[in-house]
Amino acid sequence: MRELRRRSLLSAIGGTAVAGGGFTAAGTGSAQAAPERPGRPDPKIKKLLERMTVEEKLGQLQQLPWAVATGPGGSETKDVEDAARAGRLGSVLNIFGAENSNALQRIAVEESRLGIPLLFGLDVIHGLWTTFPIPLAQAASFDPEVTRRDAEISAKESRSNGVHWTFSPMMDVTHEPRWGRVAEGCGEDPYLTTAFAVAKVEGYQGEKGAGLAGKDRVAACAKHFVAYGGAEGGRDYNTVDVSESRLRNLYLPPFKAASDAGVATVMASFNTISGVPAHADSHTLIDVLRKEWGFDGLVVSDWNGVDELIAHGFAEDGADAARLALNAGVDMEMASTDLAKHGKKLLSAGMIGERRLDEAVARILRLKFDLGLFENPYVDEGAAIDKPSARARKAARETAARSMVLLKNDGGALPLKKSTGSIAVVGPFGDSEDLLGTWTFPGATKKFPAGKVLDAVKRAAPDAKVTYAKGVDAEGRDTSGIPAAVAAAKGADVTVVVVGEPPAMSGEAAARSDIGLPGAQEKLIAAIAKTGKPFVVVLVNGRPLTVGDWLDAAPAVLEAWHPGLEAGNAIADVLFGEVAPGGKLPVSFPRTVGQIPVHYNRESTGRPYAADNKYTSKYLDLPPDPQFAFGHGLTYTTFELGGPKLSRDRVSAGALRKGDTVEVSVTLANTGDRTGDEVVQLYVHDIAASIAQPVRRLRGFRRVTLDAGKSTTVRFRLGAEDLGFWTNDQDGAFRVEAGAVDLYVGDSSEAKTKRRLTIT
Ligand code: NOJ
Repeated sequence: MRELRRRSLLSAIGGTAVAGGGFTAAGTGSAQAAPERPGRPDPKIKKLLERMTVEEKLGQLQQLPWAVATGPGGSETKDVEDAARAGRLGSVLNIFGAENSNALQRIAVEESRLGIPLLFGLDVIHGLWTTFPIPLAQAASFDPEVTRRDAEISAKESRSNGVHWTFSPMMDVTHEPRWGRVAEGCGEDPYLTTAFAVAKVEGYQGEKGAGLAGKDRVAACAKHFVAYGGAEGGRDYNTVDVSESRLRNLYLPPFKAASDAGVATVMASFNTISGVPAHADSHTLIDVLRKEWGFDGLVVSDWNGVDELIAHGFAEDGADAARLALNAGVDMEMASTDLAKHGKKLLSAGMIGERRLDEAVARILRLKFDLGLFENPYVDEGAAIDKPSARARKAARETAARSMVLLKNDGGALPLKKSTGSIAVVGPFGDSEDLLGTWTFPGATKKFPAGKVLDAVKRAAPDAKVTYAKGVDAEGRDTSGIPAAVAAAKGADVTVVVVGEPPAMSGEAAARSDIGLPGAQEKLIAAIAKTGKPFVVVLVNGRPLTVGDWLDAAPAVLEAWHPGLEAGNAIADVLFGEVAPGGKLPVSFPRTVGQIPVHYNRESTGRPYAADNKYTSKYLDLPPDPQFAFGHGLTYTTFELGGPKLSRDRVSAGALRKGDTVEVSVTLANTGDRTGDEVVQLYVHDIAASIAQPVRRLRGFRRVTLDAGKSTTVRFRLGAEDLGFWTNDQDGAFRVEAGAVDLYVGDSSEAKTKRRLTIT
């Protein structure tokens, strides 16, 4: 792979592979820029470039961190202000607030020589004031519209506070539940992730071409490019060795779709890609992103990602790092300052080219023009949104409830009756505000923490006697509080046990080697189970968890994830049946850590699992399947799915390539006695292909709400994109091959009902 990549670099250097791009590859000094985009020659940008000094150009490539909700004038931010004044700064991250951002903007616009406005970025990942459930939870809704609403509300709240650019959506597919950043993405499937990525980009930016200048728009950032979710062992920032086919089939699709949806920016990832750090990987950043896809937006490094090329053992020093990153396609450097420091020297030595520099600057200026910053650099301080609106709260509550997954519900333990005489709430998260999840805006954490479960249960069942006992802390071995929790459970008709992971246990730099409930929480559940009284478990966590023996003892388990601002209300809505749960798992829950990876979309092996044959792919001490499969989730009613019907059994590969499609339809009936949601899922399995295919691949899903006794027909269309796959060809070859494909339709990735389609 490395050799192949080197060859592609060499051909790029040789000039044969650069038609239409002219990008410089690592190791060369002769740099060229890509031509102006057809149809968008920009005289304003050209003019500005002509007036800029080299220092000012290099300055535009620099993004420096701020001290969040402070204004200029302090010693902490002096360097940033000086750089803005000198016209040697393009962007600032972690700045927030209409007054603060205006004050800094004023320095750039009114005191610098050319008055180029600054671009302000912030990690608004699942809400600013209105914290929505974490992205992984949103994916569990199997309803991309929820993420669109999050993005629309986030965009409004952010822009009114001076933020132009959010570093979201994160679209790293991962098969690693140990990886803390699984919380920030949409789980283990590229198709689901793609649907959410597109909805989120459109939510932030508006439909493609709508323009970014509006007061309710921010530029989005597709991150992290690419394959970051493949970090070995789930340890953050770790190595990724990946075949071209897996890169293209698993990791790239959401980015391609985001690029097609007009995402304004892309962020490089911290990992290596088969030996080459992503920040210096011209194969993905230039060959794929720029040339194949025609992405013409801005590529920003991740935090210190340029300088870290040294630690990666790829660059010799800061100058080398700057050269490698710029020449591989990184336009803006976040936090580290290698380009600003060494750019001029590299330029005079011919190690970076002026056209490449101009190209990067032009992209940054173009985004500033697109955001309307030249005409309107300031925000209206009187119009800054400083709290969640009632509408936003309602959306956050609905989204949280819609994201919950009912993992188990024996004997209809849930929903609880509001008429229940007494309810005990126990567990470290029962009376906790710490349910917002990873990546929450620090201001929001203090001003708008999550609503507590205990309070919401009291509101939902006003006539019940509601007691609370913590039992144990979220972490630590102290079990001295368990007897009080047991007493509370004994004295109540039903107990709600709220357990999980503190938000700091997921997100960036939060890998865990043991993904069970931390501390003594399992002991608490076991003690409650021993009372013999009815109880239900609510999980609040940022990743798939391994569940211990307590699972057998617990009648019902509701996966609530980290639900955000309206945590308490949303959990109560589902517990008491105001909302029927309808979410599905976007990640498989392993039985033990030793079973990882255990994703549903694994590739076929020569010896697939067979119970009666030792010499098949399995662990001796575990069943072959996960504890809970991708796509699993129950509800309070029952559904019946008919067998899938195909509009035809045969289709030619040629016709598919020309845009022909096959319809798959299935009837769904609500056979229970109350309204409920089902997510109908369609999976494909290509039986024999030139590259071993996943045993199942999600290629359609639809969340449907049906009243009791009602039925409907759900239809999917499959085209070339769904039935073909990417090969290992470095230049990108997508193939639709003749042969048989099984189409499974069901309510989880374990769907049994299938029909066969023959591609001729
Ligand atoms: C590092 C993270 O990897 C990235 O996701 C984030 O946007 C930047 N830091 C900026 O905070």
